[in-house]
Amino acid sequence: MVAMLIKHRPDIAPSEIISRSVYLRRREFLAGFAAAGLVAGLSPGFLRDAQAAPMKGAPSPLSTTDETVTPLRDVTTYNNFYEFGTDKGDPAKNAHTLKTTPWKVKVDGLVNKGADYDLEDLIRDIALEERIYRMRCVEGWSMVIPWVGIPLASVLKRVEPQGSAKFVAFETLVRPAEMVGQRGYFQALPWPYKDGLRMDEAMHPLTILAVGLYGETMPNQNGAPIRLVVPWKYGFKSIKSIVRISLTDAQPAISWQEQNAREYGFYSNVNPQVDHPRWSQATERRIGEGSGLFVRRRPTLMFNGYGDQVASLYAGMDLKKFI
Ligand code: MTE
Repeated sequence: MVAMLIKHRPDIAPSEIISRSVYLRRREFLAGFAAAGLVAGLSPGFLRDAQAAPMKGAPSPLSTTDETVTPLRDVTTYNNFYEFGTDKGDPAKNAHTLKTTPWKVKVDGLVNKGADYDLEDLIRDIALEERIYRMRCVEGWSMVIPWVGIPLASVLKRVEPQGSAKFVAFETLVRPAEMVGQRGYFQALPWPYKDGLRMDEAMHPLTILAVGLYGETMPNQNGAPIRLVVPWKYGFKSIKSIVRISLTDAQPAISWQEQNAREYGFYSNVNPQVDHPRWSQATERRIGEGSGLFVRRRPTLMFNGYGDQVASLYAGMDLKKFI
């Protein structure tokens, strides 16, 4: 990808690494405050934090539960969201201009009951779950993020896919007035950002549409108000700020494959045995774990460690060819 430079964060001390238990305590604290209506009298700094309203999900058995979650600060300041710039810090600086309410998601194509959902209706009707997932970026870093979301399958079932639907295509918002990366001379990608899944990948129980993280509404830089999360695929498959989901019979075009088909394929399953043409995919750096000379590299796991659940989707496929 264009901005593949890995920036170290020497400013983050190990003591800032928030453990899951601390996160849970913080979450309960914030939720308790909001419920008690005590937020009104607090300082602006605290208010900003609490404004990301509580967005709780029932813990799901499909979570990765044994790993330390990545500090919230890293999750929200080290982002890829090219609509707001190509530097890792750009989305945190620029994404506040995005207006996320009201928000409509059109679900159309090969379905019996196409819909223009108001996001609020959608998440009122489908129970929210917390899914703690590893995320492995194609650039060689990874995070563990406590998402709040709904299974994509629950949304797709509502619109009644037709038998001929074989793929699901996703599109991000195009609104240059609110997205600085969609304006001006240098455009990192053609817009809208597009991605897609095969129907069985989309219906898989691990695949979610996330609307929050760390028990709060989704920060803009992480893809507010609704983004895809497919934990066994490289991070770029997890398209942000989705406005359209279309069911199709042909494999849809995806932004990164359109940009550079030699380097990025439609599947993009995490695979330590298949290197990116310009670098190895055998190991990864967990964001928040040391810096500089002390960076620990972990072995990357096939399908990002979700092989037991998803390997059967690719039985018989040559994963060196279908990258
Ligand atoms: N979605 C849109 N619309 N635009 C983007 O530039 N970047 C992708 C993906 N989704 C991107 C996107 C990439 S390359 C990654 S690694 C993940 O978002 C990063 O998600 P995060 O910032 O929440 O970690």
